[in-house]
Amino acid sequence: MKRNTLLQAALLTCGLSLSAASVAGGASGAMLAYTCAGCHGTNGVSTGPAGPSIAGFDYDYLVDSMHQFKAGERRSTIMTRIAKGYTDADIEAMSKFFADQKYILAAQEYDKAAAKRGGKLHKKYCNNCHEDAGTLQDPDEDTGMLGGQWRPYLSYTFADYQAGEREMGKKMKKKFKSMHKKAGDKGIADLLEFYASQK
Ligand code: HEC
Ligand code: HEC
Repeated sequence: MKRNTLLQAALLTCGLSLSAASVAGGASGAMLAYTCAGCHGTNGVSTGPAGPSIAGFDYDYLVDSMHQFKAGERRSTIMTRIAKGYTDADIEAMSKFFADQKYILAAQEYDKAAAKRGGKLHKKYCNNCHEDAGTLQDPDEDTGMLGGQWRPYLSYTFADYQAGEREMGKKMKKKFKSMHKKAGDKGIADLLEFYASQK
């Protein structure tokens, strides 16, 4: 599968073995975060499409995501294995470190007309929770980051949601369904262009 090819490429280029994840207890967030850099970039700013950026993410979202991965509650190619190597305290320290970094939007090519259509869909169905084109994580809603995130990552995420392999919140599901009913898979493609167009 294409996803696995991407992942293999990430593993090869980052040159990290998974055992690097098992750092002795009491390590600082910055030290722990170093083991994430191969796939998520230095300080969480990903420079390649295989890994999503996680710099500047909301602290609670990071902690929750890691726990979901660890418990196998969120679909993952690799993160469940990685998250299992960390204690609650490690996860909190790393999340604090990444939350303190600055989110940098990934520069990507995009289709202008599609991005415009996607922008309209976003405004109508998604902006309530994913404000500022999805570059702002609503701490009350614990939302994910969309604008400026790498397109392949978001594209797989949409596929996982649609296949029911990752659970959407009830309220998002309702909006997502209305969007899909109106615009179909083309709507998803347009949304992806819109998020990629954010600078
Ligand atoms: C070998 C590559 C790799 C390494 C190393 C890695 N990740 Fe990931 N990470 C991924 C991939 C790929 C995903 C997408 C989910 C999946 O397929 O597992 C992801 C997803 C995530 C997400 C969810 C992002 C979102 O937008 O919801 C978080 C948070 C995360 N990783 C944190 C970490 C932390 C913290 C570390 C270091 C302890 C780490 N990752 C190490 C590849 C990696
Ligand atoms: C009622 C609030 C709400 C609405 C409306 C909403 N979302 Fe979400 N969204 C969330 C929450 C909460 C999460 C994080 C949940 C999780 O961990 O799966 C999320 C996560 C996501 C993610 C995963 C991000 C990541 O980093 O992995 C994507 C993609 C996404 N939403 C797209 C959309 C799109 C597209 C729409 C409009 C059709 C939309 N959302 C509407 C609340 C919402």
